[in-house]
Amino acid sequence: MHIDKYEKFFMRVSAAFLALAIGALTASVVFHKAALPKPVERVDPELVRSTAPFDEPGLRKLNNGEYEAVLVASAWLWDGIDEDFVVPAGSTVHFKVTSVDYIHGMLIPETNINAMVIPGQVTEVEATFDEPGTYSLICHEYCGAMHHTMGAQFTVE
Ligand code: CUA
Repeated sequence: MHIDKYEKFFMRVSAAFLALAIGALTASVVFHKAALPKPVERVDPELVRSTAPFDEPGLRKLNNGEYEAVLVASAWLWDGIDEDFVVPAGSTVHFKVTSVDYIHGMLIPETNINAMVIPGQVTEVEATFDEPGTYSLICHEYCGAMHHTMGAQFTVE
C-alpha cells in the first residue's frame, strides 16, 4: 500500500504526540502521585446538620500546627468559616466539606485547593498556609441566583 510521504510524516508526528501525552500522564501518576479524588466518605444530605462532625462546623486545632476545618456548604453560605477562623502562618488545614443542597465548588486562590462539594459526599482537601494574610474561599460552581456572593474569608497571622 502506498502512503504519501507527507501522510507518513504527520502519522509519525501524531504518534510522537500521543507517546508524549501518555508519558506525561504516567510521570504525573508515578512521580507526582496524581490520582482521581476518592469518595472518602458519604453522608445523607438531609441529615448533615445532625451528623458529626458536620453538626458542629468550624475550626479545630489538632497537633503540631495542624487544624481541621469542618465546613457545610449551602445556598449561599459556607458554615464553619467566620471571623474566629484564624490560624498561625505555617499551619496545615485539613478541610472536610459537604453540601446540604446543590453542587458547590471550593476554590482557595494561591493554594492547590480546587474541589467539588457534592451533596452526599464528603470532600477532603488540605493546604499549608505559609504566608500571613487574608484568604478567600470562593464557590466556583454555579449554584443559583446568588452564586456570585458565595464566598468567605479567613486569616493566617
Ligand atoms: Cu455555591 Cu456557587
